[in-house]
Amino acid sequence: MRPITVNLGDRSYPIYVGEDILAEIGKLMRQAGLGEKVGIVTDAKVAGLYLKPVEESLRRSGFGVSTVFLPEGEEHKSRDSVSAIYDRLVSERFERSSSLIALGGGVIGDLTGFAAATFLRGIAYVQVPTTLLAQVDSSVGGKTGVNHREGKNLIGAFHQPRLVLIDVAALRSLPRRELVAGLAEVIKYGIIADPGLFAFVEEKLESLLALEREPLVEVIAVSCAIKAKVVEADERESDYRSVLNFGHTVGHALESLTGYEEFLHGEAVAIGMVQAASISVRQGYCDQESFERIRRLVSRAGLPTEIPDHVEPQELVKRMEVDKKSAGGKIKFVLCAGIGKTQFHWLSPAEIVAKLAP
Ligand code: NAD
Ligand code: GLY
Repeated sequence: MRPITVNLGDRSYPIYVGEDILAEIGKLMRQAGLGEKVGIVTDAKVAGLYLKPVEESLRRSGFGVSTVFLPEGEEHKSRDSVSAIYDRLVSERFERSSSLIALGGGVIGDLTGFAAATFLRGIAYVQVPTTLLAQVDSSVGGKTGVNHREGKNLIGAFHQPRLVLIDVAALRSLPRRELVAGLAEVIKYGIIADPGLFAFVEEKLESLLALEREPLVEVIAVSCAIKAKVVEADERESDYRSVLNFGHTVGHALESLTGYEEFLHGEAVAIGMVQAASISVRQGYCDQESFERIRRLVSRAGLPTEIPDHVEPQELVKRMEVDKKSAGGKIKFVLCAGIGKTQFHWLSPAEIVAKLAP
């Protein structure tokens, strides 16, 4: 298994992608030089499916293991859940040399990363993502955190993992809707950085949805490599890293306006990507044919493409990240210049309303 490396000097780390590789975790953590004591953080659903091979592998490699179970779901991405992790680490006398493993989706990954970033001013952690979204996005790049009742991810820290282990076999138990939502992020990487990836997803869509090993490993590895490059260029999102937000300005606003109940994150991003591509055409950055390819692929994947009728564009724009407005009251939009290239563009709320399709 040849890993992808996220090159960040002494905080560099490998990402391993393969099938049926959970049992490699102990050996890989040894290679990474991680200490004897390990805490696995997971939820009951994921634990029932994947905890055993992870625990067994760690024990075989001589690690002392304890497991923290958290309730599943976005509503538990909270300070209470982080406190539950701290309580166990304190009662079991975890030390600076100890480490955590996040075994689960993006919620478990963000919580575990945040606990690791803050416990004893920072201990090591490892990501073992089990949803497609977590495999191609949240497990890479070191953004960690929890929600506040006033907004998502308001409390957090940058803290890079020491190792990411991605087992595509875990996707077999994932509900189809979650899988398709994760695919939206893969399509995003194609649009922002890689016309070859986009064309590959167009060609292999059915095989990907059928979870065929080779194309799946390929798109996940390429997606992680793209994210790694972006993070290497701008780890703390001073500017360039926000290309990863293509489709997210409208997507986040849509999720927020619909109370996080109507759409999964990837579904809202899918609509946001089609809207961003449409605005890109109207701004003259993107050709009509590329826009049609984007809309067609999103739709073929089984993702929504249109803002629902009950959502007023004015209301949507009000929800767009007002805190990130420029001095002139404009919102920074990531637009696409065809497939594979991006263009930042500042738009006022009135301009956005005017440009939202139809
Ligand atoms: P999630 O973590 O809530 O997981 C979705 C559901 O799938 C959960 O019920 C979980 O128990 C279940 N599950 C996980 N793996 C499974 C498997 N293999 N088989 C069956 N069920 C499984 O959702 P998500 O989409 O993975 O993550 C969303 C979170 O990720 C959000 O909180 C978002 O803010 C965060 N996120 C973070 C970053 C980042 O850079 N840190 C990036 C994108 C998203
Ligand atoms: N998910 C966006 C980022 O990691 O920056």
